[in-house]
Amino acid sequence: MEFTPEEQEMLDGKHGTATRRCMEILTTLGEIYGAERMIPVVSVQIAGVSYANLGEAGLEFLAEMAEDGRTRVLTTLNPAGMDLENWEALGIDPEFAKNQKRVIDSFSKMGVVTTCTCTPYLIGNLPHYGEHIAWAESSAVCYSNSVLGARTNREGGPSAIAASLTGRTPAYGYHNEENRKPVITVDVERAPSDTFEFGAMGKVIGEKIGNKVAYVRGIPKASIEELKSFCASVATYGGTALFHMEGITPEAAEMEIPNNNVTVTGDEINKAIDLLRDDSIIDFVSIGCPHCSIKEIALIAELLKGKKVTKELWITTARPTKTVADKVGYTKTIEEAGAKFACDTCCVVAPIKGRFQGLATDSAKGCFYGRGRNKFAVQLMSIKQCIEVATK
Ligand code: F3S
Repeated sequence: MEFTPEEQEMLDGKHGTATRRCMEILTTLGEIYGAERMIPVVSVQIAGVSYANLGEAGLEFLAEMAEDGRTRVLTTLNPAGMDLENWEALGIDPEFAKNQKRVIDSFSKMGVVTTCTCTPYLIGNLPHYGEHIAWAESSAVCYSNSVLGARTNREGGPSAIAASLTGRTPAYGYHNEENRKPVITVDVERAPSDTFEFGAMGKVIGEKIGNKVAYVRGIPKASIEELKSFCASVATYGGTALFHMEGITPEAAEMEIPNNNVTVTGDEINKAIDLLRDDSIIDFVSIGCPHCSIKEIALIAELLKGKKVTKELWITTARPTKTVADKVGYTKTIEEAGAKFACDTCCVVAPIKGRFQGLATDSAKGCFYGRGRNKFAVQLMSIKQCIEVATK
């Protein structure tokens, strides 16, 4: 690989030990994937923040990086294993909380903005069209590549940290134009009409296309909330990091439409919903995977007005989004109903395995991990239905 003088200095250790190690990580990655050079990135999103995933080995690596490593670009964090302020009310073990705080402290020392959300694009980490970034978190990667038109590979925890501390990433994969072209066309015969249906469509498409770049037709309109649900799901069930949606995403108009077609019918979307509805009691309801937007919180507040929950109901969101909800009174309405905000975390990364039997959620991704990781029975439904179940 060819390096600029500054990159060579980083490799030579002139910018400190952490920066040298990060440059070595990126160089190794670049060599594996055939990159010829590094490119500057403008933003980073780091995943793998929960202590449950990192353990002591991960924490040791972070502590070493935090010794003399400092972020060079705007860097935000994925959800942690707990609400960093309200963890006790959410039943988190104090020992876990202590270790989770050690993780956050290390990131903080590096200069990371410790907002802990999988929707950084809703709270100010918002790259624009054509910008190179280095993001981890599959749903956010898919959203930034596809909906925003930014350029990123699916980074892992260490490579995202390395990009943050050097401001670079190797130029391969989705950073190169030729890899952003669609190779399969998906014709949707019945457009979904709610966020949970967009999630179900993501399951159907993901299972058909795997990790290919698709050109999706037949969706007349889609909101930010519907697109975030779709991105989370298509990335979870298929592994794709980029799609183009005709009339919706910014690069679609420039793309040649592939001849290789698959179709998605309304029946297939309905069947996907049925497959995510286990026959089980529901004792836990969680909304906000990916993290809720302020618009979704407004809807939840409206639906909960004057009601009381009878089951544990979590609303997972970024803390800055909750701050807005606090100011306009949504939080008061929601908390008076007995529902709980779980900021900085989510029902998948929090250590809650075994605490509940059945999860109702509006997220197809949440169903996948609720079943797989936390061994919950699941039921996919709209936000309105989630509130009905939570207050029944
Ligand atoms: Fe976000 Fe957790 Fe879902 S990280 S996408 S809320 S599984």
